[in-house]
Amino acid sequence: MEPIRFDGQVAVVTGAGRGLGRAHALLLAALGAAVVVNDAGRARDGAPEGSAADEVVAEIRAAGGRAVTSAHDVTDSAQVDAMIALARDELGGLDAVISNAGFLRDATLTNLSDDDVRSVVDVHLVGGLYVARAAMRAFRDQGHGRIVLTTSAAGLYGNVGQANYAAAKLGLVGAVRVLALEGRKRGVLVNAVAPAARTRMLDGVPLGRLGEHIAPEQASPLFAYLCSRACATSGEIFEAGGGAHRRVVIGATEGWFAGIDAVPSVDDVAAHWDEITADDRLSFPPDAITANGSFFGPMLAAARAERSR
Ligand SMILES: NC(=O)c1ccc[n+]([C@@H]2O[C@H](COP(=O)([O-])OP(=O)(O)OC[C@H]3O[C@@H](n4cnc5c(N)ncnc54)[C@H](O)[C@@H]3O)[C@@H](O)[C@H]2O)c1
Repeated sequence: MEPIRFDGQVAVVTGAGRGLGRAHALLLAALGAAVVVNDAGRARDGAPEGSAADEVVAEIRAAGGRAVTSAHDVTDSAQVDAMIALARDELGGLDAVISNAGFLRDATLTNLSDDDVRSVVDVHLVGGLYVARAAMRAFRDQGHGRIVLTTSAAGLYGNVGQANYAAAKLGLVGAVRVLALEGRKRGVLVNAVAPAARTRMLDGVPLGRLGEHIAPEQASPLFAYLCSRACATSGEIFEAGGGAHRRVVIGATEGWFAGIDAVPSVDDVAAHWDEITADDRLSFPPDAITANGSFFGPMLAAARAERSR
């Protein structure tokens, strides 16, 4: 297998002034990509602060790479469009985008203010959609493109105090499933990754031993692989951190079918609860149409049998 390189390619990484985004940008640049290093400069809670994007750009240039700074805010669609235009105008094109920017406002839902809810959904979910949309538009006619959206274990599995963040992060997974379908014919592959890394975002989180072994650059190779032409995967969800890598799947149980045209009682539902929830025979539908096919399979089979009688 040829070593994966990004020579002649252009990537955009949002929130790349620090943490995971910085590590992604440095890796892509080290492998030959020209990189738009985006960062609007936000504190851990989203308050404005100085951006370190210029320092990352300087680091890439000092190592002989090509990079430009973007201070655009991913929650503003006009600024996102300007960021994507920067890739084309300053670096000559666009091949891959990693949407990574974000911040936290953690508290149990009853203690979250309107602004805590809206600002976190805005930066992760709305910002992620703006970035993906601008990338899809840029990719539309060129026949290839890669988008990686950053999700989170909090969204995939749940975590106390992060309802706003988890809702936004799982929302991105829904977007990935749809964009993979929409991008397929145009050679655009879209995936989600939940990273784990010791960054400012985890300040104050008691990590114990784990914290000593999850450097941001350990998560970046999976992101970079998904950005590469070598990767043919789309619509999938991954976890990466501390050298560990895995795919996360969305599964459906076999379930219980009440019978054609049956209106089950609540007691019927209760009586079949074990069948509805049993996870010994899961299926993993790749899209909603396939999911409907298996969900309604017993009903359609019963309807066919009834017609042929
Ligand atoms: N660190 C982890 O273990 C972990 C776990 C799961 C998910 N994530 C996700 O990974 C991504 C990166 O997190 P991190 O740990 O590197 O955090 P970080 O705080 O170190 O970096 C986030 C960067 O995003 C920038 N940013 C924030 N709002 C922005 C905006 N509106 N426009 C442009 N830039 C903006 C910030 O200035 C900051 O530099 C986030 O999406 C986060 O939710 C991180």
